[in-house]
Amino acid sequence: MRMVEIIAAKRDGRALTTAEIEWVVKGYAAGEIPDYQMAALAMAIVWRGMDDRETADLTLAMARSGDMLDLHDVAPLTVDKHSTGGVGDKTTLVLAPLVAAVGLPVAKMSGRGLGFSGGTIDKLESIPGFRTALSVEQFRRAVQEVGLVVAAQSGDLAPADKKLYALRDVTATVESIPLIAASVMSKKLAAGADCIVLDVKYGRGAFMHTLDDARQLAQKMVAIGRHAGRKVAAVLSSMQQPLGFAVGNALEVREAVAALRGSGPSDLVELCLILGSELVRLAGLRERSDDARALLETALRSGAAWEKFRAMVVYQSGDPEAIEDLDRLPTAPVQVDLPATEDGFIAAIDGQALGLAVNALGGGRARKDDAIDHSVGLVLRAKVGAKVAAGDPLLTIHAARQSDVEMVAERLRNAYTMSETPPAPLPLVEEIIR
Ligand code: URA
Repeated sequence: MRMVEIIAAKRDGRALTTAEIEWVVKGYAAGEIPDYQMAALAMAIVWRGMDDRETADLTLAMARSGDMLDLHDVAPLTVDKHSTGGVGDKTTLVLAPLVAAVGLPVAKMSGRGLGFSGGTIDKLESIPGFRTALSVEQFRRAVQEVGLVVAAQSGDLAPADKKLYALRDVTATVESIPLIAASVMSKKLAAGADCIVLDVKYGRGAFMHTLDDARQLAQKMVAIGRHAGRKVAAVLSSMQQPLGFAVGNALEVREAVAALRGSGPSDLVELCLILGSELVRLAGLRERSDDARALLETALRSGAAWEKFRAMVVYQSGDPEAIEDLDRLPTAPVQVDLPATEDGFIAAIDGQALGLAVNALGGGRARKDDAIDHSVGLVLRAKVGAKVAAGDPLLTIHAARQSDVEMVAERLRNAYTMSETPPAPLPLVEEIIR
């Protein structure tokens, strides 16, 4: 087979065969297909799409590009969660220890920042010493000993997705239903969990801007998971504004720790309770959603979820003092408020613009091997629906230098839409696909 012909076939709208997809994935994982050809194919897929059979073939080929874990010898049942990506989405940092605290072992492989959205692995790496690169054996041992592990893709698990994910991040090829579905589900199938909840986001701060696209993506992923014998539910949640108040790696860890210690933002906590209830039900721990929720609320209130998070940090070599005393996390030297220029209600906040601003501050990558600055980001001071007066702070910019503040201030101001009357309240969750 020749890669150039496969790229041309997809460019011209032909469905790729199972054999072609397997050949591409194997060749790319083995380093035989160069990044520039894979980037061209990814862009052709963004434009031309893939049908259900091609998407399932791509998922399975990427999942099988490395080891497929079976964790049943270390835990009778494991659970997992994945978000399709959103701005300020620190849900995993709260949800994973929360469900682990009620006795459901969590075996999770997470990603780095992707496009304008942050990634759990980058967030966790703002904790000094925290190791996200675990071997398969270390991953299995963490499930057995702590009941909770959040790790980066090791070279052994879905390596084809690991490479393609990093390539898509810097080639504007993220926004594609088949590429996102295959990326998410290949990781989930390879990591071996029995029950999976998918947080499928829609809105300006997500890769799917409309609810219809998010529903289509969710249905595809649920079908792939069920076909592979996993129990899967998908929650369609709103990204019409960032989740919580913090956007940026160490800033989001601070907010997640606050949530685990009982003082988190209400939208973040509510979303974790909804997603967690789905996992508790899928795992058969409780039948009814309100019973599942009560179980999780108790684990949050009692401090059990916080203790699980702490245990994970210690096990993965992170400095526990940095999460006890949050001043020890990376802190940006320059912190400047961005004031409102007029009186009114905040009608909309463009999450994508905020995410891109955080990347420009150094919190995300422009090239695959870029180092990132964990300290930078934004903290919203008011969210959609708030009434502000001219001069009131809309958000605080955390930057490495004053010139960076000036570079992003204008685009941040433009991310806000104001109105004279209060806007309709935004939903947090639109529907659940079970
Ligand atoms: N999360 C992933 O793992 N992959 C995507 O493509 C998008 C979100």
